Amino acid sequence: MLKVIAPGKLILSGEHAVVYGYPALAAAVDRYVHLIVKKNRSGLLVEPFQARGVVKSAIQKVHFSLKEKPNYNYSIKVHSTIPIGCGMGSSAAFAVALSASILKYSNKPWNAGLVNDLAYEIEKKYHGQPSGVDNTISTKGGYLWYRRESEKVKLFHQIEVRKKLGNLYIINSGKPKESTGEMVRLVRRLYEKRQLYVKNVFSEMEKVSRGFLRYLLGEKSNEIAGLIKENQKLLERLGVVSFSTKKLVKEIEKIGGAAKVSGAGGVKRSSGILLVFHRDYGKLSEFAQRHSLDVEKVVLGRRGLKVEKIN
Ligand code: PMV
Repeated sequence: MLKVIAPGKLILSGEHAVVYGYPALAAAVDRYVHLIVKKNRSGLLVEPFQARGVVKSAIQKVHFSLKEKPNYNYSIKVHSTIPIGCGMGSSAAFAVALSASILKYSNKPWNAGLVNDLAYEIEKKYHGQPSGVDNTISTKGGYLWYRRESEKVKLFHQIEVRKKLGNLYIINSGKPKESTGEMVRLVRRLYEKRQLYVKNVFSEMEKVSRGFLRYLLGEKSNEIAGLIKENQKLLERLGVVSFSTKKLVKEIEKIGGAAKVSGAGGVKRSSGILLVFHRDYGKLSEFAQRHSLDVEKVVLGRRGLKVEKIN
């Protein structure tokens, strides 16, 4: 029997821009997809049952990518502490954990790079043209400087952190109506109409990503609150933040904090998870209570995919 754990992620800076070859800085977080997998002679058994369709099509994709005949003889228990569809990489963490499980049971040699490639293929099935940052950070863990040069060339570097990020929390602005794929297409349409404008936003975003990088490396940089605010402003300029989320972010700033959408965002209703910085947890928690929101501590830079044999 296998126990497979893959973390979710937060993007510090560079979401959307990363689809166009600009760098992104992502961190694995302490929220995970857990799978318990064993062979089951009588076909596919999935718990909870509602996850069966997704699990089945992901298994099919993995076997297809491995050029094997699909084999569904598994019993799989799925449990996740990552909010679903909110920009924390829940689907990528699931894709990584599932790919790792199937590869372990196949007769192919173990290779974490291959797990990452297989997970990317599953991600493409759901999101169209993803950059690959979500599955890569979930596989590798820690903090990643990531750059997609082309479909076949994706460069990344694991950052050895000198200066830790602290006072970070997540507040869920609500699950967006749009999927990641829809949000990526929304930005694509803007890019096609106003290329110069969007390229300018992406270049500014790259500066923010580099600011975060310098901070983590312990070099001279802006303060975290400033970088978060700047990233949020650029995401607003890209049109991926809803009206209610913009308002919420402003109010967090008013009480002395900083907040940003992390991931694809959303405009019709809400924009998913907000990464929030505040030096005074008491103030932030009082604010969240007043707005009937949950505020949770989040730890960045956690380890990536873990596969264990259990009995
Ligand atoms: O919202 P998420 O967790 O799916 O993050 C998507 C990040 C994007 O840059 C918007 C898309 C991508 O493929 O990188």
